[in-house]
Order: sequence, then structure tokens, then C-alpha cells
Amino acid sequence: MKTVILKMDENNIDMKLVKVAANFIKNGGIVAFPTETVYGLGANARDVDAINNIFKAKGRPSDNPLIVHVSSVGEVNGIVDEIPNVAKKLMDNFWPGPLTIIMKKKNDIPNETTANLNTVGVRYPSDKVANCFIKECQCPIAAPSANISGKPSPTNGQHVIDDLNGKVDCIITANDSEVGLESTVIDVTVEPPMILRPGGITKEQIEKVIGKVDIDKTINQKPEKNLKPKAPGMKYKHYAPNGQVIIVNGKLENVVEKINQEVEKYLKDGKRVGILATKQTQKYYNYKNVDIILLGDRELPETLASRLFGALRKFDEDNIEIIFAEAVLSSGVGLAVMNRMLKASGFNIIEV
Ligand code: TXA
Ligand code: MG
Repeated sequence: MKTVILKMDENNIDMKLVKVAANFIKNGGIVAFPTETVYGLGANARDVDAINNIFKAKGRPSDNPLIVHVSSVGEVNGIVDEIPNVAKKLMDNFWPGPLTIIMKKKNDIPNETTANLNTVGVRYPSDKVANCFIKECQCPIAAPSANISGKPSPTNGQHVIDDLNGKVDCIITANDSEVGLESTVIDVTVEPPMILRPGGITKEQIEKVIGKVDIDKTINQKPEKNLKPKAPGMKYKHYAPNGQVIIVNGKLENVVEKINQEVEKYLKDGKRVGILATKQTQKYYNYKNVDIILLGDRELPETLASRLFGALRKFDEDNIEIIFAEAVLSSGVGLAVMNRMLKASGFNIIEV
């Protein structure tokens, strides 16, 4: 399949290009587009054939529901049966933005879109290009992240081209994704509401607005047979580079010491090694033949979030076999960062 690639500028959006992309959707096609979290792969949420093509292009398991994206709060009425009061508060405070709200779906949202669930996740992205594109499509856009299933989600246009060129009708490339991790997913059909996937909007921020919420306890735990995550997608191996990620957790000076010991061991074995360093620790890693990527500042987990997936993809490009990561504090956006790192590592964590 020939993929049309449209390069856009978020500060000067060319409506002619937006129309080209929207026409693919109107004609039953699938289009990748930027959002503030990660790039998405979109189709008309009510077009069953197009939805099936998304699953094919990604190699996505069919029991994993898609998030439906809108370009205004008003559109939600056409997608869900009823908007609970807590959802209204969440929309008022966090939309447009990186928050997906799960509600009871209307019958005309096909089962293919929601993987046979009677609920649907809805999100209103803040990204300007996303907003323009969805508006022009004149329909809700079902979109998973625009990566091959299992790979780290794409945070820039090149990542999408690497994964999906030749497999989709059109790819819109524009700015890098600002948040860099997928949206927070919250289920408001249960009482109290439950966070199923941590992301850019934190538990702390949400509780300030709607009071106590639960968090799916399985998300940062090694998967067990009888303990299934509530968001189907959270049970899959995810975000994984080709190399083995190993997380080291403990007091920071011990973490650095352990990583240095391990790196030397693997180098002796002739392995290609990478380190995800932070501002606080970078100076303690001194190697010429190790891929050292500076993620960001441990005190500002948003900086770690925005670079994590790009770093994992860079290690793949460099054929890195073993990747060391420092555990981060599981509060604020740190919870989401730690969640993606744990999944990328297959829960491979050394305690020191
Ligand atoms: O930031 C994002 O959410 C990005 C951008 C493109 O918007 N999208 C994204 O979609 O991450 P995806 O398909 O990669 O992840 C959606 C997650 C999956 O874990 C899925 O199982 C869960 O949300 N999910 C979707 N609908 C659900 C529902 N009705 N009930 C429970 N979990 C749901
Ligand atoms: Mg995904």
C-alpha cells in the first residue's frame, strides 16, 4: 500500500493538507496523526471495516479496545449513554488533554471498536493538529497508539513512519508529542472511579477535583494468572525495545554503583550496553563504548516521561542488547514513568 505522508506545522496549519487527511477517513481509510501524548492511528469510530484495518496494520490483539477521540465536549453525547457528574467535572478540568474517560457506550458504537465491552473510553486531545484533523473528519475518531503492537509508542513522526509506512493510507507528521506517554485512563462506571492506566494527568490532580479514586492495583505488579488488569491492553507485553531492560531500585548512590558493576560485567561478555541516565547521575557513568542517554531530571518526572519512548527506540537503532534504567519515585507523573519502564523490562527489577 502507498502511504501518503503529510508534513504539517502546528503553528501554521495548512487546511488543504488537513482536508486531504480527513478525506481518507471519510472514504474508510486509516490515518496516523500527532497528539500531545503519543501519535495515534485513527479511523471513523463507527466504520467497522476501517476499525478492523487498524487492528491489522498494528498487529493488535482483537480483545484490546480502542479509545474514541473527539474535538469538542458536545460530541460525547453522541458516543455515550449518559455522562456521569464526575465525568463532567473531569472534562471541565482536564479536557482538552491527556485524560481518557471510560463511560457506558451508545449502541451505535460498534463492538469492534470497544472489543465487545459495553463501555467506551473517550478522549479530547489538546494537540492543535489533532484537533483540526478530528474536526475536519466530522466523526469521532477511534485511535490506538500508532506503533506496531508491543513496540514503544511513537512520540514523533519518524517513529510512525518507521512502524507504519506502507501499512496505512496516510501519516500526518508534525511536532513531537509533548507528554510522551499515553493518556491516563479512568473508569467512571465504578464507584469510586478507578485509574486503569497512569499517564500525564496524575492521581493527585484527579483527587483534587473529584475526591478519592482507586488505582488498578495490578498495573505495577508482575502479571499473575488470576490477577488481570482492568484495561485489557495493560496485560500485554508493551513498550518493549529489542534489548533487555533491567531496572535498578534503591538508594540512588547504591543504584549507580550497582549499574556500574553490572555494566562492566556485560561489557566483559562483549554485550552492547545502554544506560538511561538522569541529570543527577549522568556524571557517574563514564564509558566510551556504552550508549548513555540522558532522560531528564529526576525531580521533574515530566522530563523523563517525554523522552522515555524515544530513548528506547534509539537503543534499538543502535542494536543495544542490555539497557539499565534507574527506578523513579512512583508519585505524580513518576507513577506512569515507572509503569512504562516496568512493562518495557518485563518486570525485571534488581533491588539494592
Ligand atoms: O494517549 C493515548 O491514549 C493514545 C493517543 C493516541 O490518544 N492512545 C492510546 O491508545 O494509548 P491504546 O489503544 O494504545 O491504549 C488504550 C488503552 C488500552 O490499554 C485499552 O485496553 C484501554 O485503553 N481501554 C480502551 N477502552 C477501554 C475500555 N472501554 N475499558 C477498559 N480499558 C479500555
Ligand atoms: Mg498502545
